[in-house]
This record gives sequence, structure tokens and C-alpha cells, in this order.
Amino acid sequence: MPNDKKLCKYLGPLCEKLDNCEHYQKFAKYRDKVLALNNDSLEKTISVALALCFVCAILVSFAAVALRPLQVENKAMDMKKNILEVAGLLQDDTDIHNAFAQQIEAKLVDVATGDYVDGDVVAYDQRKAAKDPALNVELSRGQDIAGIKRRAKIAKVYLVKDGDAIKSIILPVHGYGLWSTMYGFLALDADGQTVQSINFYDQAETPGLGGEVVNPNWRALWSGKKLYDESGQVALGLVKGVVDPAKPGAEYKVDGLAGATLTSVGVTNLVKYWMGQEGFAAYLDKIKTKG
Ligand SMILES: Cc1cc2nc3c(=O)[nH]c(=O)nc-3n(C[C@H](O)[C@H](O)[C@H](O)COP(=O)(O)O)c2cc1C
Repeated sequence: MPNDKKLCKYLGPLCEKLDNCEHYQKFAKYRDKVLALNNDSLEKTISVALALCFVCAILVSFAAVALRPLQVENKAMDMKKNILEVAGLLQDDTDIHNAFAQQIEAKLVDVATGDYVDGDVVAYDQRKAAKDPALNVELSRGQDIAGIKRRAKIAKVYLVKDGDAIKSIILPVHGYGLWSTMYGFLALDADGQTVQSINFYDQAETPGLGGEVVNPNWRALWSGKKLYDESGQVALGLVKGVVDPAKPGAEYKVDGLAGATLTSVGVTNLVKYWMGQEGFAAYLDKIKTKG
């Protein structure tokens, strides 16, 4: 660079520093030697390839670091979109940031007691917490019906309110299907019993089979279904085939996914786990009794 008069006109101090740098002098000597070599020589070919790799590595590293804040922002935006969607508050023209800020209240809940806890609700990452031994609980084989091995002690739940009254309770759920852990949200009425909607925002089941968990037609079948039977047990689950609405107990049944019994069982199990005593039963009890 110090030899490049045009560049040095603008980068004067840098060129001066490079001029006095012993390593740069060595590099410049080697560069001139390589450039003088025959184009077909092995040394020139390898040197040019290495230089190209070096430049590309710098570019990729720079892009990864520079784009990180944008990725974090996009991830947060996507999560808000999923929550608004399951709450039935997402239209084509919805301003996601504003709608979320105005209509959704995020809260931290101690899953074991069902009590709200203080903390930085925006920064809290339940998925990260589930991997941290200080913040998670290990599940025994008998407890782990959803196939998740451990869960965070604190969950992040979302409320949609109309004044002081709760319109929707949005609970994070996850569990193993056939190929993947399926992450989603279950939206309930304020009675803590009636399902409004379900969505899975992160799963890797086979498209067209287990991947039908994201199909809007199938998801629509969940609306109005009931979670708990008269004895207070989680009764909601998927059944093989189509549910006959005239048959008793239809309010606890959703059509299973055709050709995807294992994913269907996974969905049933994750609902059973998260709505049961190991999951949000304590929290929902408190909402029902205290509001
Ligand atoms: C390539 C391939 C992908 C599959 N993907 C899924 C899946 O995502 N979820 C699932 O439950 N079953 C999947 N299955 C089918 C299961 O292996 C199993 O046969 C099925 O769950 C049984 O469901 P059925 O009794 O409704 O036919 C897949 C099968 C194949 C060959």
C-alpha cells in the first residue's frame, strides 16, 4: 500500500505506519517476489489461493459480527409475530412492535408454584435456561412424558388483557415428535380450560406428514377444545382419524395427523406434560381462583 500513491494520499498516517513496520516490509518483499513469479508456478498458485482464503475469512467474520445485532432483532421480532398470531392479533398490516407492546404482557412464572416472579422478562430466555443446571430441573423418566429431559424452572408466559380482565393466556410448550423437539405456544381462554389456538414455530418433522402441525386447517381444529376433564386430569389429545363432534368426549379430542402417528403422539404428550402437574397446572389453578 505505501507504494500506491493514490491510496496513500487519503490514508497518509496508515501508510506511514506501514512503511515503518518491519512485518509489513517482509510481507511486501514476499508479495513482490510472488507477483514476479510465473503464473503457472506452484508457489504463486498456492500463495494466491491462501491470500484469497484469508480475505474471504475476514469478510465472512466481519459480516457475521456486523450482522449479529440484526439477527437478534429479527429473532425477537419473529417471536413477537408468533405470539401475536397465536393470540389471534396478527393481520397482514399489523405493526408487530407496536401491537406487541400495546396488547401483550409478558410475565415470568415459577412453574412449580405457579407464582409470578420478578426478573428481566425481556432478556429472559427460557430455552437457554432449560440448558443451564442452575436454572433447570432434570426430569425423571416417569415425569418426562414430553421427551424433553429437563425444563427451565422459570417460564415466560404472555397475557392479552382487556383492562384488568385477561382475554388470553399464552403458554410456551415443547416436546419431542418423531425427528425433532417441537416448540410452540398454546393460547387459552381466561378460564384456563378452553383452547383458543396452538402454533408450532420451531420443528423439523417431515413436511406433509408430521410437519402438518403448522397447517392452518389442522390448527383450526383446536379452537374451543377443553383441556381438563371433570376429575381435573388433562384429557385433551390427538386421536387416530377424524373426531366425530356428536360423540361424547369430542371436546377433548383433535384429529390425529394422517400418516404421522408418532408426531401426533408427541403433540398429545407435550400437551399432557405442560398442562399437567409438572407443567402449568399450578399456574392455571391460580389464574382460575385468583384471576
Ligand atoms: C421418510 C419418512 C418420513 C416420516 N416422517 C414422519 C413424521 O414426521 N412424523 C410421523 O409421525 N411419522 C413419520 N413417518 C412415518 C412413521 O415412520 C410411521 O410410519 C408413522 O408415524 C405411522 O403413522 P400412521 O400409523 O398414521 O401411518 C415418516 C416415514 C417416512 C418413511
